Amino acid sequence: MNFHKLLLMMFSIVVVMFTFNSIIPFAEPITTTENDRSFFDPSCSSCTTGLSLRPSSSSRKNKSTTGSPLIPSTEEGEVWTKEAVLGLARRPETVEWLKSLRRTIHSNPELAFEEVETSKLIRDELDRMDITYKYPLAKTGIRAWIGTGSPPFVAIRADMDALPIQEAVEWEHKSKVAGKMHACGHDAHVAMLIGAAKILKSREHLLKGTVILLFQPAEEAGNGAKRMIGDGALENVEAIFAIHVSHEHPTGIIGSRPGPLLAGCGFFRAVISGKRGQAGNPHHSVDPILAASAAVISLQGLVSREANPLDSQVVSVTSFNGGNNLDMIPDAVVLGGTFRAFSNISFYQLLRRIEEVIVEQASVYRCSAMVDFFEKQNTIYPPTVNDEKMYEHVRKVAIDLVGPTNFRVVPPMMGAEDFSFYSEVVPAGFFYIGVRNETLGSTHTGHSPFFMIDEDVLPIGAAAHASIAERYLDEHD
Ligand SMILES: *[C@@H]1O[C@H](CO)[C@@H](O)[C@H](O)[C@H]1NC(C)=O
Ligand SMILES: *[C@@H]1O[C@H](CO)[C@@H](O)[C@H](O)[C@H]1NC(C)=O
Ligand SMILES: *[C@@H]1O[C@H](CO)[C@@H](O)[C@H](O)[C@H]1NC(C)=O
Ligand SMILES: [Zn+2]
Ligand SMILES: [Zn+2]
Repeated sequence: MNFHKLLLMMFSIVVVMFTFNSIIPFAEPITTTENDRSFFDPSCSSCTTGLSLRPSSSSRKNKSTTGSPLIPSTEEGEVWTKEAVLGLARRPETVEWLKSLRRTIHSNPELAFEEVETSKLIRDELDRMDITYKYPLAKTGIRAWIGTGSPPFVAIRADMDALPIQEAVEWEHKSKVAGKMHACGHDAHVAMLIGAAKILKSREHLLKGTVILLFQPAEEAGNGAKRMIGDGALENVEAIFAIHVSHEHPTGIIGSRPGPLLAGCGFFRAVISGKRGQAGNPHHSVDPILAASAAVISLQGLVSREANPLDSQVVSVTSFNGGNNLDMIPDAVVLGGTFRAFSNISFYQLLRRIEEVIVEQASVYRCSAMVDFFEKQNTIYPPTVNDEKMYEHVRKVAIDLVGPTNFRVVPPMMGAEDFSFYSEVVPAGFFYIGVRNETLGSTHTGHSPFFMIDEDVLPIGAAAHASIAERYLDEHD
């Protein structure tokens, strides 16, 4: 997830945040990077829907949706049961293996599109488990499959890249690479998906279709998901799911919501050009400082005057530079910032209006302006939207797996995820799994140099991935 975008947001001049049903309560003021994801309202239950997946297959008839254990012992292993799947995930040797995978990846973090060793480690594990895969997709990405090889196809995804951050946590498996760190938990995501591969492989004879495992590069930068799709990651796939660790929830708690979950995110930089001149005789120059100032003020009207107040949007100007000569009016001012929205329509409406406002305000002051949205550098992330049926599937399976008290409906947040590219193409379900443990100190937000996780999450995440995929196939018509 791209929390640096959230950091920029902290400098925001305009922040309007509403959920569909309730105003997001800010428990505490956003004053530090540690707090910039303080958004969860565990009491928000107004978002649950009455939707459900298609009718269950016969092997599901006895299945309760309330999370109580079920399971005819005679059929042990032949239908999905929480005991069977968690039992596999929680075998001591499996837990040790998952931790060691995660630690190996953690100590050797690799940035976007450079995940060479991480990708190699994954392929070695897949080889050992006799799982077939296609490689490479998107340079370092992998598309593995388990099951019948026939439809339906359901995908589960992990991201592999680390961040350009110096790890500040002192521990045995601290990053060995100066200035690089797995500060967003993608090391854990990879370990969980490998764990899911092991569980699914051992239950392959029970799969009623094919599970596609996607290991993708470059979530944090470079739109790895977009390139994965371009290389065929979603071929035949009819639904996709992914996990993200969250420091907001205690270890193993699963959270999600239907509909828009994470914002679309874009950046802009404008160059407003005038005519340089002596500040003491301003009438000989064309002042871009005044034009840029007017543009900054006018940009504030986009959210406050043009956006539906129930449709959360942000425009933040975070940079304004006209040089540092106190006696000269500069030739040009460069200003820039970021914008967020929860629907594609609102996002592109903002993009269009940001350009118009800057160009038109510049012209009022006889200046010209060019606005760059970095479309070619892949810095635009669409909103991440959970399909209501896929959300309902995640919720149901999560409750069966971890119990109803360990599932939470979470509010949307302004951060971005490149999982959104998949969610634009096929019905998608994105969910969080808690890694917060006060005793261990895993209380820091993603992208903090102090970020850490409670590794006890790994088997639960692996079981969640595997269960969501297997049961999707079970419950498919
Ligand atoms: C539960 O499953 C068993 C064994 O498959 C079956 O005999 C029984 O009728 C089922 N009960 C219900 C309520 O469907
Ligand atoms: C979002 O809007 C843009 C611009 O209108 C369009 O090119 C793109 O296809 C849209 N994406 C989706 C998923 O609708
Ligand atoms: C936190 O971690 C400690 C040490 O591993 C463990 O004993 C404890 O049960 C964990 N607490 C929670 C809430 O998971
Ligand atoms: Zn991130
Ligand atoms: Zn992330």
